[in-house]
Amino acid sequence: MATTRATAEEPDQTQDAEQPQGPEPRTGRQAEGRSAVRSLLRLWPYVRPVRARLSVAAAVAIVASCVGLVIPLVLKWMVDGPVADRDPAGVWLGALYLLLLGLAEALLFGLRRWLVARPLAGVEASMRADLYRHLQRLPVAFHDRWASGQLLSRATTDLSLLRMFLAFPLTFLLVNAVTILVGVIIMLMQDWTLGLVILGPAVPVIVTCVAFERRYAAVARLAQDQVGDLTTVVEESVLGIRIIKGFGRHRSQARAFRELSRTLRGTELRKARLLSAIWGVIITLPELAIGAALVVGVVQVADGALSAGTLVAFLSTALALRWPVDSIGFLLAMSQEAATATERYFEVLDAEPEGAEPESAKPESAKPESAGGDDRRPAAEAVRGGLEFHGVRFRYPDAPADTPPVLDRIDLHIRPGESMALVGATGSGKTTLTALVPRLHEVTDGRITLDGEDIAGMPREELRARVSVAFEEPTLFSATVGENVLMGAGPDAGQPELDRALAIAQADFAHSLPDGTATQVGEQGLSLSGGQRQRLALARAVVGRPRFLVLDDPLSALDVHTEAAVEAALRRVLAETTALIVAHRPSTVLLADRVALLSGGRVAAVGTHHELLRTNAEYAHLMSGTEETEGDAR
Ligand SMILES: Nc1ncnc2c1ncn2[C@@H]1O[C@H](COP(=O)(O)OP(=O)(O)OP(=O)(O)O)[C@@H](O)[C@H]1O
Ligand SMILES: [Mg+2]
Repeated sequence: MATTRATAEEPDQTQDAEQPQGPEPRTGRQAEGRSAVRSLLRLWPYVRPVRARLSVAAAVAIVASCVGLVIPLVLKWMVDGPVADRDPAGVWLGALYLLLLGLAEALLFGLRRWLVARPLAGVEASMRADLYRHLQRLPVAFHDRWASGQLLSRATTDLSLLRMFLAFPLTFLLVNAVTILVGVIIMLMQDWTLGLVILGPAVPVIVTCVAFERRYAAVARLAQDQVGDLTTVVEESVLGIRIIKGFGRHRSQARAFRELSRTLRGTELRKARLLSAIWGVIITLPELAIGAALVVGVVQVADGALSAGTLVAFLSTALALRWPVDSIGFLLAMSQEAATATERYFEVLDAEPEGAEPESAKPESAKPESAGGDDRRPAAEAVRGGLEFHGVRFRYPDAPADTPPVLDRIDLHIRPGESMALVGATGSGKTTLTALVPRLHEVTDGRITLDGEDIAGMPREELRARVSVAFEEPTLFSATVGENVLMGAGPDAGQPELDRALAIAQADFAHSLPDGTATQVGEQGLSLSGGQRQRLALARAVVGRPRFLVLDDPLSALDVHTEAAVEAALRRVLAETTALIVAHRPSTVLLADRVALLSGGRVAAVGTHHELLRTNAEYAHLMSGTEETEGDAR
């Protein structure tokens, strides 16, 4: 039925489905010029551990199928023997044989299922684990570029497709091929003229399959990418539900969703049309051949050239082969989808993680470039302690080539134990600068040193253990308050560290939550206010007593009194920590020993708050009120 409808809707859907719509990731989406087999071969490392089970399962399935092919031979024996001789005992015996054969076939197929189920679930799980691990290791720049729905759909839909491929098409394309081969040999042995009649449609069926493969590949890729786009829209509307409701955008959001799902529906219908076409050919032609063989066979039996039993055996063999032949269509379709899923999976897995490899090479390869500049420093100067930026330049990897870098020739030294406030107009690159310290982004040029040690040469893990960060957007995970905060500390940190951090961040409210610090927060838990979340994020940043602390506007959501209390507590922590604190308000700036003004991608001035107020007009302007920022926004 579905196929009939698919054909009926052909005209209006084709164009829609031709052009993928909606947000596209900048990678992938090349269905042309690839081979399904080559794609699927990449699964081998995952299949290897279970290859023995899979092979045994395939062998069992082949035996089961061949057992099915013995049934027609028993029928032949029954028709030509006991039935012709009117021997009831013989008929019963034949029936018993048939029953036993049927049972054996069913049991063997059951055994196959049992053999593959567990290992394949394991394959899927390990592929998913690898994908997840890889996603965690991919640089922030990768995540900036990829839509999350594309990643989600790869981790879910595509991996299920792969498991299904390993469970069915992989085995059954082989099993069916063997079954068809054995069946054809049996039929040719029964009667070769009838056999040739049956084999008639083989060539057109094969040609259809090849043509189908090629077309289906492109549509399958399109459909899976569109599922990713759709996932992105759903995810964004769930995460942004407040904005959507607040701005009354649910209609337009729903329209966007409908648009995408209509496109996807069009693509799915194209898949259905292709499937119905191949099915039409694959089912009709053999059926016609069986009909022709029936006619020829009956004539031969009437002429006495063929025994009735042979004809029965021949026809039941042909009928037994119907399923193996018919199923080729969707087995091929599933294989194509699996090939596409494999490509999509490896597109993510092939993306370069922020690995150790380029790291070790980095100091050498980075030096010649920076050596060309005039900011080369004598080695002796680099041994200074604290956090130091040496001629740092940064441009976002996907920024248009003709735009100036966000940060250009940043030179800044934060002495050990000093806290430096970073001030600048909105969009001046403060967040960008803070992200360079834990190497969330790599500097384009120049160096950053911690106590004289270039961070590019440091293992990331060590770097991130030394540097603690709190970002503008306080992110909490679906976990307890305690777990969220202790994320910032080593594995052996416990309640005392937690209490101390909560106290510094003025987050003692956590103790009076329903379950205290064991209260679930984040997406699946209690909702906290913006200021509460910010204080927990701050507690997370200070809980590990880091040597270096990078805070991106950590107090923006707090009232003045709470801010003052946090500052008093922070000041004690900051005495032993080297800190870089992005600040917008004079009250936060006062927390720091000195202030750096970021302007036009450079550090325009460094000094104490009062010095800069007196000597720097831009700084005085920034600190005097919010007029400028508001003017910008309008
Ligand atoms: N992932 C990104 N890819 C490309 N450009 C970016 C990216 N993130 C930020 N930018 C650009 O870099 C510039 C500096 O942004 P940044 O977030 O560092 O500003 P900021 O000083 O922290 O501003 P604010 O005070 O508003 O937080 C902006 O022009 C912004 O458009
Ligand atoms: Mg910022």
